[in-house]
Amino acid sequence: MCGIVGYVGHRAATPILIAGLSKLEYRGYDSAGIVVHENGELKLEKKVGRLAVLEESLKNLDIQATLGIGHTRWATHGRPSDVNAHPHTDASDCFAVVHNGIIENYLELREWLQQHGYEFKSETDTEVLPHLVQYYYQGDLLEAVARAKEKVKGSYAMVVMSKYHPGRLIAARQDSPLVVGLGENENFLASDIPALLKYTRRTLIIDDHEIVDLTAGQVKVKNGSADLVDKKIFEVTWEESQAEKNGYDHFMLKEIYEQPKALRDTLSGRIAPDNKRVTLSELKLEPAFIKNIKRLHIVACGTAYHAGVVGKHVIESIVRLPVETDIASEFRYRQPLVDSDSLVIVVSQSGETADTLAALREAKRLGAKVLAVTNVVGSSVSREADDVIYTWAGPEIAVASTKAYTTQLIAMYLLGVWLAQERGTLPPDKISSILSELRELPAKAGKLLDDLDITKELAQQYADRNSAFFIGRGQDHIVAMEGALKLKEISYIHAEAYAAGELKHGTLALIEDGVPVIALVTQKALATKMLSNIKEVKTRGAEVIAITTEDNQTVAKEADHVIYIPNTHPLLTSVLTVLPLQLFAYHMSVIRGCDVDKPRNLAKSVTVE
Ligand code: AGP
Repeated sequence: MCGIVGYVGHRAATPILIAGLSKLEYRGYDSAGIVVHENGELKLEKKVGRLAVLEESLKNLDIQATLGIGHTRWATHGRPSDVNAHPHTDASDCFAVVHNGIIENYLELREWLQQHGYEFKSETDTEVLPHLVQYYYQGDLLEAVARAKEKVKGSYAMVVMSKYHPGRLIAARQDSPLVVGLGENENFLASDIPALLKYTRRTLIIDDHEIVDLTAGQVKVKNGSADLVDKKIFEVTWEESQAEKNGYDHFMLKEIYEQPKALRDTLSGRIAPDNKRVTLSELKLEPAFIKNIKRLHIVACGTAYHAGVVGKHVIESIVRLPVETDIASEFRYRQPLVDSDSLVIVVSQSGETADTLAALREAKRLGAKVLAVTNVVGSSVSREADDVIYTWAGPEIAVASTKAYTTQLIAMYLLGVWLAQERGTLPPDKISSILSELRELPAKAGKLLDDLDITKELAQQYADRNSAFFIGRGQDHIVAMEGALKLKEISYIHAEAYAAGELKHGTLALIEDGVPVIALVTQKALATKMLSNIKEVKTRGAEVIAITTEDNQTVAKEADHVIYIPNTHPLLTSVLTVLPLQLFAYHMSVIRGCDVDKPRNLAKSVTVE
């Protein structure tokens, strides 16, 4: 995830910027850069690769500047490269900007600016910002940033400096974190608190719509109506390691709570404002090919595979195309029936999983077109596939995948609706009803996450059990698989996921007194069947934790505990159903004293076969 640092004061800015950026390295990045104000000019240095590469290139420069901004970039728009790295400047190098987030309407703005004679150097969404600031600048930097901000849709934390203002930084925030650090005759800006802790613990947390005017001697914060805001000072008491986790005890917990934002970012700019269409402007696949696809294959490993199986349910239901799902390590050895009429979709958070990469190569060898869904721009999978849909979850640090999974689900939903729209398999009113619900999912996820203390209580009650079962039907069965995997991965409790109707054909004998059974009941059409399955396990002594939608009042009569998720379109429930399961697994792991973020025998990116 991108990181921002800014400094204005009396000390040399460069080492402060580098030290701040180094504290944000843990978040993941692919390039880094700084710009400082020196002798009336902006001096810019930016490099792809580690921060050490940037430091090396700065080594021989005698920069004494006391004003500067720095950035570590996690690529979203445009591959990792020197040119795409931040800061970005306008054509005359008078204005420089660092930015975190996604400018949703950047293509539109880019065209508009090009019509006004602006030339672009990079492939990024961010580059529209310095050009816009330059366009609106008439001597007042704050005013220019405020006007540029009005044109921009999307999420951002941005910091702007100009060669015309040697002691001033302007910053703004919308849906992306931004913090001011208060010093003595010096002030700081950062996207995250760890970047500030070496210098100050006195901070101002900037809110959405606010704009900050920062000099060495004062900090002014204005709201969306341009009124001064009296911000309360937030004294940071966290240790540095805790600050990296934004106050959470573990990265996994932080990432679970980042999901509403990750979902929003992944949807950003992909649903038309009137909810009538999905736009996947990044896709290059020919319309004729899309119309003629005879079959789809979704191939992935682990959690990404579970997202793929949800994708199968969605696509088959609304596109009416056969979809096969494969575990990547099986696909390449089973002589799959893939040819030039097939589209193979590979799903991989890291984009580096060896099994997935091998499956991708096998699919290409067999003549299929390959579409990758990945979270890492420039990853091997993204480079080798014919086309890519990026999930914008930001880097995931905890080994157990959470926000990458739910953003993969969003990608599956978007892809399903897009295929349906391109192949004309779904009437416009049905597309609209799915898309309007899809748009609501980030807010619903946020509301649900605020209300899940029960998962901790349940974990306290069940942490001493040796095994657990997860059951569900349809999409719920797939989420059950993901819930069981999460529990196994991080708490080392044996967990099995079963299609609820299949349990009686298999290991029902293992259900005995006190075995927790997590029953997922979000599919209305299958709810009565699920009730029978709940009775079946209760009769044998199971203790049932049911997860169902708010409008289902029947399940409570049978289950021992019920967790309600907000109502949504039945195709979209998985993204909500999994949230309590992630938190349940998390609390189980903590209570059992396991290493939550680095569970044993598991790596974040599995680059061996
Ligand atoms: C998820 O919690 C796992 N650690 C694992 O299953 C992971 O999803 C799998 O290895 C695939 O990784 P990828 O998405 O980076 O390809």
